[in-house]
Amino acid sequence: MTDIATEAADSLVDIERGYISRELFVDPDLYKEELDKVFTRAWLFVGHESQIPNKGDFFTSRMGEESVILCRDKAGKIQVFLNSCRHRGMKVCRYESGNTSLFTCPYHSWTYTTDGKLQGVPQYRSLYEGNLDREANSLVAVGRIANYKGTIWATWDKDAPDFLTYLGDAKIHLDQALDCRDGREGGSEVIGIHKWILPSNWKFAAENFLGDTYHNPSHRSVDLIGIGPSAESGKKGRRDDELEKAQHIWVSFPQGHGVHSALQPTENEYIESFLDNPVLEEYFRHCYEERKARLGEEARLLPFVGSIFPNTSYHGRQPRGLCAWHPHSPTSTEAWRFFLVDKDAPTEVKDYLRRYYMRYSGPAGMTEQDDMENWLYATAASTGTVARRYPFNYQQSLGLAQDGYEGYRGDITLQPTEQMARGYYRTWQNYMRGASWDAILGEASK
Ligand code: FES
Ligand code: FE
Repeated sequence: MTDIATEAADSLVDIERGYISRELFVDPDLYKEELDKVFTRAWLFVGHESQIPNKGDFFTSRMGEESVILCRDKAGKIQVFLNSCRHRGMKVCRYESGNTSLFTCPYHSWTYTTDGKLQGVPQYRSLYEGNLDREANSLVAVGRIANYKGTIWATWDKDAPDFLTYLGDAKIHLDQALDCRDGREGGSEVIGIHKWILPSNWKFAAENFLGDTYHNPSHRSVDLIGIGPSAESGKKGRRDDELEKAQHIWVSFPQGHGVHSALQPTENEYIESFLDNPVLEEYFRHCYEERKARLGEEARLLPFVGSIFPNTSYHGRQPRGLCAWHPHSPTSTEAWRFFLVDKDAPTEVKDYLRRYYMRYSGPAGMTEQDDMENWLYATAASTGTVARRYPFNYQQSLGLAQDGYEGYRGDITLQPTEQMARGYYRTWQNYMRGASWDAILGEASK
């Protein structure tokens, strides 16, 4: 019998012809293989350093289905551990965030230091002396950690390539989401997180953020009032003119990442103050001047949406920040949206953006619920016996990608395309094959 991962690698994904089986979105065996072959190897976004500024601060995050603790230890070093006691597996931390000097397991009270070492074992002398190796019973630590401009990433694989190699040329696009709006490296902070569960496969969300511009009709209602993601229609004519003049690029990267960015004819970051607020207008104007002085031509780049393989997405424009699509089951995903603002922005700007984010995102927002409705109905409609016989179509702009454009690297298409999705699933296929890192990172996403 064919093993499901081999089948996925060989026949369920047909990049050349542009067909991908619905099994990828509903099959429980395939899902289990994904957790093993993708989520234990790839770099995963686990949080932001602004969430753990002080020694002892922690934030419980996730990697795949598993709970992990992101923590700043007492020496100030960032650590990521599996949130599971080495004795009987109880969660050693049941809070979402906080500050502690020790993690005490609620079950039998083993305690662990903030660098993950097993410290306290009740009745150690009488029950364990001579048998228990504390070092070997530390919390399970991830293989590698990276702090990239304040965002913390982790992988279970000690042999994974360093994060910048993994990111490749997607870096310059992701930077626009992470740096200050005036172009300074990092300097952002998380202003809030939305968490919710949606009955959809996690890849629907990650794929949508690769740059599925084609779905903009879904957002027609918010576009009509000028706050939708396509920037079409709306009341703010000047903003729309600027964006129409922009050269849009859709980029697929060999590592499986993808982005839809705009190269604007003039820098127009300050137009993000499109809601007629003079404080925001002034702030973004100032950011524009600073940014142009710092970045020159690069200041033109403004990504709409992008995804970093496998389950992290980002917005370069407002609502600026990152999303993590945590798998729960083949047909259930826990979505986390981390909202970023410039740390040194005036309070009024931060407050304004906070309200904007809440109105835009999540199940109670006016925009993201359009997307979720598509994903959850598409997932449900793909679970049927007959539906599963028919693959999804990925032929949009097939064969139109070119190698780079105006100094930007990657497979670039100058019109809406599913090239990023094709590249993403080619990479997914490589992970499912258990390919070497060289093969995964070296494979061109043609
Ligand atoms: Fe943690 Fe027993 S399960 S101390
Ligand atoms: Fe959308």
